[in-house]
Amino acid sequence: MLGLKLPTDPRWADIAGKNIEDILVDHAYCEQKAASTAISLIVTYPEYSELVTAMTALAREEMGHFKMVHDRILNMGFKMGWDRKDEYVIKLREFFPKGGSRATQLIHRLLIAGLIEARSCERFRLLSEELEDKELAKFYRDLMVSEANHYTMFLKFARKYGDREIVDQKWDDLLQFEAEVMKDLGNKESIHG
Ligand SMILES: [Fe+2]
Ligand SMILES: [Fe+2]
Repeated sequence: MLGLKLPTDPRWADIAGKNIEDILVDHAYCEQKAASTAISLIVTYPEYSELVTAMTALAREEMGHFKMVHDRILNMGFKMGWDRKDEYVIKLREFFPKGGSRATQLIHRLLIAGLIEARSCERFRLLSEELEDKELAKFYRDLMVSEANHYTMFLKFARKYGDREIVDQKWDDLLQFEAEVMKDLGNKESIHG
């Protein structure tokens, strides 16, 4: 359903379950960055009205997710720590060549955002199935559904604003690259690690 070419190593859920404070803090930052991405797309592409409308709703929704995760951090007696570099996202951003037209840059940004949503969705599904804390598992199940919708929305916009055939080829190439990146990941106590 998500098109991902390499599933996460199931042992990652075990690592995550044993380091839940690290996971929640990293997750909170992921939500905050998702909101930032939506705002950045609004600022960079104001003439794409449909995108601006969707990104306005998305920024609110992602900050809502941030609040949910942050509240949970506080309720569990933890505190937000500092943000850490997300190697996964850094690598994905290096995939498409820099430069090109604004429209091309938009397509690349939409595809990368869609992929991050897809992988996050897959990770949340694993957490929802594997966590021993059943209440937390349910929390991840609900978020999984939201991120699946975001993944399809970003892909839909990329196909709407770009040539369908070119976009689909780029998406496939990106998925292939992501599978290579994933081979080195899946063993850290972070959402994409
Ligand atoms: Fe989210
Ligand atoms: Fe999202």
